[in-house]
Amino acid sequence: MTVTEPQSTGHQVGEKVVLEANGVTMRFGGLTAVDDVSMKVHEGEIVGLIGPNGAGKTTFFNCLTGMYIPTEGRVELNGQTLPPKPLKVVKAGMARTFQNIRLFANMTALENVMVGRYCRTSSMALTSILRGPKFRREEEATRVRAQELLDYVGLARSTELLARNMPYGDQRRLEIARALATDPQLLLLDEPTAGMNPKETEETMHLIRKIRDSGLAVVVIEHDMRFIFNLCDRVLCLVRGALLVEGTPGEVQSDHRVIEAYIGGDDEEESA
Ligand SMILES: Nc1ncnc2c1ncn2[C@@H]1O[C@H](COP(=O)(O)OP(=O)(O)OP(=O)(O)O)[C@@H](O)[C@H]1O
Ligand SMILES: [Mg+2]
Repeated sequence: MTVTEPQSTGHQVGEKVVLEANGVTMRFGGLTAVDDVSMKVHEGEIVGLIGPNGAGKTTFFNCLTGMYIPTEGRVELNGQTLPPKPLKVVKAGMARTFQNIRLFANMTALENVMVGRYCRTSSMALTSILRGPKFRREEEATRVRAQELLDYVGLARSTELLARNMPYGDQRRLEIARALATDPQLLLLDEPTAGMNPKETEETMHLIRKIRDSGLAVVVIEHDMRFIFNLCDRVLCLVRGALLVEGTPGEVQSDHRVIEAYIGGDDEEESA
């Protein structure tokens, strides 16, 4: 994979490969939801994953993050093969958000972010039972970091709100803050602007660029093509589980196979 040209923002994608997925296949009975998909993500890179509904995008994320054990294939983070266990994947440095928001609805925004942080503290272990000084110090540091992250994603004033009472767009931002609390090197976002208005979508684009500029690599699934083509260094299009096209936003945008995949104008259907 060649190094991507610098974008208009002036940033340069690194040569170091953060994530490498090789021949990932996921079958559910007779259905091949992900079909031999390979993907590399470099340091400082934003990669877009597009494709029609049911193309296998979320299933591919689930394979990368250990939620599913792929039927075939291998996933490496920084050259280390990842065990297909979500907590181990998070500890290795990969965090994600979900297409269907998965917050702790009855916890505050701050508490939701603190939960993300616990994978980096010993607070879930014996110290939390004994509640000694080490626990209190860690808990305070976790609280401070969680508040910093709320500020970072633009939720400075939502600290004490219950997640379920927050507007939809803010819940999506809160999921990003919780993911960042795990100190990832790679962030996977599954439809981060779904349900957002144009202003929120624009803000989310800025937030993702800011996250990239802080040193993370990002993979983002979205149906909003303007968002994807403006934001990403490279775009992959999945169709029926398989990788159809990969290239720069310009290349993918103008590829007739991508357009056909979205409007359903392939040979099979044309002849039907
Ligand atoms: N746990 C599962 N068991 C059986 N089939 C599944 C499972 N998860 C996903 N699928 C199927 O795999 C295919 C791919 O689904 P997936 O959710 O990955 O698509 P997607 O590209 O994320 O679509 P969307 O854009 O609608 O979110 C679909 O046919 C779906 O029904
Ligand atoms: Mg999906």
